[in-house]
Amino acid sequence: MGDVMDALREAANLAATRAYAPYSGLFVGAALRSVQGNIYRGCNVENGALPVGGCAERAAIAAAVLAEGADFQLAELAVAAFSAKDPFLAVAPCGACRQALVEFGKEAQITFRSADGNWVVTPASALLPHLFVLPET
Ligand code: THU
Repeated sequence: MGDVMDALREAANLAATRAYAPYSGLFVGAALRSVQGNIYRGCNVENGALPVGGCAERAAIAAAVLAEGADFQLAELAVAAFSAKDPFLAVAPCGACRQALVEFGKEAQITFRSADGNWVVTPASALLPHLFVLPET
């Protein structure tokens, strides 16, 4: 498991170098492993119309769904980020991305750098208590 997480962290770092982030200067990468065992990556893609920009985590999920379809299930995901000032920034998945993560794997292991520099590893469900579930109507 440690090896998988390290490989995903490295892949996330590399994905961050492909980010399009001229407005925030925050380059974010995500790398995930599906239950089927495939690796998918994503980076943030910003836009001059600021709310149009998208997060790295959801870009990686989109790549996974494109490749594996509705069967896609998330096993592990790593997030990494850097800026011009700091090559190793602490970035946890945003709230919207947490909702997207639990959709594909409540018990998926999510890893990201915390403010003290250590890597957090936590199940997706722990990142989002009281998640939104679409009620039957
Ligand atoms: N960002 C991500 O890619 N993932 C997150 O979970 C949080 C934020 C991106 C979006 C935007 O391009 C930049 O970071 C600053 O918010």
